[in-house]
Amino acid sequence: IKHLLSAADLDAQHATLVLDTAAELANVSSREVKKLPTLRGRTVVNLFYEDSTRTRISFEAAAKRLSADVINFSAKGSSVSKGESLKDTALTLQAMGADAVVVRHPASGAPHRLASWVDGSVVNAGDGTHEHPTQALLDAYTMRSRLGRVAGLHVAIVGDVLHSRVARSNVLLLTTLGAKVTVIGPPTLIPVDVGPALSPDLRVSYDLDAVLPDVDVVMMLRVQRERMNDSFFPSTREYARRYGLDAARMRRLPEHAIVMHPGPMVRGMEITPEVADSARSTIVEQVANGVSVRMAVLYLLLGGK
Ligand code: CP
Repeated sequence: IKHLLSAADLDAQHATLVLDTAAELANVSSREVKKLPTLRGRTVVNLFYEDSTRTRISFEAAAKRLSADVINFSAKGSSVSKGESLKDTALTLQAMGADAVVVRHPASGAPHRLASWVDGSVVNAGDGTHEHPTQALLDAYTMRSRLGRVAGLHVAIVGDVLHSRVARSNVLLLTTLGAKVTVIGPPTLIPVDVGPALSPDLRVSYDLDAVLPDVDVVMMLRVQRERMNDSFFPSTREYARRYGLDAARMRRLPEHAIVMHPGPMVRGMEITPEVADSARSTIVEQVANGVSVRMAVLYLLLGGK
């Protein structure tokens, strides 16, 4: 594999290789070896046309821990404001010798276009409402590390599935790895063709309370105000009442079940602070695991030794 554009690029064997490599790299990092020489002399460009906290910093940390040179490009403050196209920006970065381009873009499909213009590897760090494959990998890694496996788990993905690239990539990856997935949310925020379009094994529910007692993992999603007309944005109170995870709902989960959220979260809407900060929550762990998983992705794509 040269690029990582979609979770569908990974079959079970490739996905497991990424997770195993991430576990090995996490072990090495925990042994006080903060930097590996693996990607010395290689250049990783972070090309971000959309805001990010976790993904951008995590890819930067991952590349630096592998000794790569890192160039951070943010559309804000660049010549994009003067009308420069994605293609011309990509060719400029190419001329500077990018071995890998990590791209986040508001347009679904932008990483695919980029991959046809540059010689290096392209990693999709989130494109519009389409996909966010490294988020799905770090989520699978977190499930495996907390619950020992992914195959056979029942994962509920709850909230604004319609606009969620995290949901799409997770459905693809988790079903590839043998998990059972149920997406849950208000009918207006679930795509009508979600089942057959993504995976024949996917289930859909509009009733969170009914599904919670049967899950191993509940993954809460943010309602993406920036991708919808204000008049469609649900009231916080009404949304929280039907689809928010609070302490009372958390008690409906089996004892071993974990609570996940990709971040950024809106405390008080899709999740209460009490739940987000509880022992069941893996939210901070997901961020830490993201560095190891992104190290593995860069290592495998760039043929690290
Ligand atoms: N989960 C995630 O993609 O977070 P950021 O938008 O902060 O990168």
